Amino acid sequence: MPATPDQLQKYEKIEAFVKGFKLSSHTYKKIMSLLNEEMNNGLHKHTNHSADIKMFPTFVRSLPDGTEKGQFLALDLGGTNFRVLLVKIDGRDVDIQSRTYLIPQRVMLGTGTQLFDHIADCIIKFTQQHNLRGIKLPLGFTFSFPCKQEDLNQARLSKWTKGFRCEGVVGEDICKLLHEALKRKSNMDVEVVAIVNDAVGTLMSAAHNDRDCEIGIILGTGCNACYMENLKNVGVWEGEYDHPDQMLINTEWGAFGDNGCLDFVRTEYDRELDNFSINPGKQLMEKMIAGMYMGEIVRLVLERLTMEGLLFQGIDRECELFVRGRFYTKYVSEVESDHDEFFRNTKQVLDELGIQNYTSEDCKVVKYVCTLISARAAFLASAGLATLINRLNKPSITIAVDGSLYRFHPRFHNLMQLKIHELVRPGLRFKLTLSHDGSGKGAALVAAVALRLREMKKEDQENVANA
Ligand code: BGC
Repeated sequence: MPATPDQLQKYEKIEAFVKGFKLSSHTYKKIMSLLNEEMNNGLHKHTNHSADIKMFPTFVRSLPDGTEKGQFLALDLGGTNFRVLLVKIDGRDVDIQSRTYLIPQRVMLGTGTQLFDHIADCIIKFTQQHNLRGIKLPLGFTFSFPCKQEDLNQARLSKWTKGFRCEGVVGEDICKLLHEALKRKSNMDVEVVAIVNDAVGTLMSAAHNDRDCEIGIILGTGCNACYMENLKNVGVWEGEYDHPDQMLINTEWGAFGDNGCLDFVRTEYDRELDNFSINPGKQLMEKMIAGMYMGEIVRLVLERLTMEGLLFQGIDRECELFVRGRFYTKYVSEVESDHDEFFRNTKQVLDELGIQNYTSEDCKVVKYVCTLISARAAFLASAGLATLINRLNKPSITIAVDGSLYRFHPRFHNLMQLKIHELVRPGLRFKLTLSHDGSGKGAALVAAVALRLREMKKEDQENVANA
């Protein structure tokens, strides 16, 4: 049915409130060149200290080659849960047993001691349940926050992101805090072989089966990417420039825009979301993309349209649409999964928010808003990936992807596929591949590769000594 003049007028008004989410190809290309510049600042010794994108060297310089073997413990901290995993690797075969433990919000916002005590309790429980007491397994720790690595198993937290803000951890060595907590709680000792970011774990896990994989991206509660850089471009590297002359870089691109360079595309809703976050002015690119924030941006727009009389006529002002954080990002995926005019999922979401007497027109508008905000997120992530693909300039590259947003949103993959294609230099081929259990398998693989290289080095030294 064609729209009536009244409807057309209403659509026009709605458009005025959401047009800021629609960015042209030209704008995405501008964002790419700004990002590239910021990445260079992060990599260079003289500009790194003032750069927002820190481009941390990860000390990971080799990818798995399929000959890795052994039994590992892996830890995964980064979202609302903490996981402990037992990972058995035998060549290409990987067996994982894991347990998930909730991290209460009071712990996420408490002290570092509380957090690490909680982690230690979970590890002790896990090792008891899996009859691992007294066995000292090598451990890979996926710690999904910005860290300055001083070695593969030494990482100092540079700042908290997402929902975490535990006192007394910034600047501290994560590995040391873990050891101290385990000592406080029992006499348990572990050998931490590697501290790994989740983007790195994701890349490693996919690289185990695909030699072309040189980029990893997380689209989950937070957003971040890593890639394999030529060592000669890593000005901040303080070690040897020896073989292999490459280094996985944890970009921490979520902080892109913190110096104001993205202000020309941020909307009033992005600003409001930021003002009410636990880290105002920080992680501005992440706040436009990641799952922790997307639902809230949608809610802010719906709230505005409602106040302007363009949505939900006669709504109860006490309903949950007006409560911060109450429109979950999973709702965005659910709403966008409606494919007909019955709006089954959308109606269920509106019911859950306690909104009454909504019309099909309202559902249409809600879906439209979700579509715009998720597309902007997918396109910004694509601009970031296209920047990395162009930097690497390889004829064919695989990008490992993980995270709840990418997994559960019905269109994220396709939107990214199209946009990256539009933004990369012609002739560069790429593939987006879902990486499985990056945080568990990936962390164990980093540990396994490190042990394999350690063994090789020892053998070489013995051969030299015996020659
Ligand atoms: C963190 C990154 C992490 C990403 C995805 C961001 O908030 O700073 O280290 O990789 O979230 O979990």
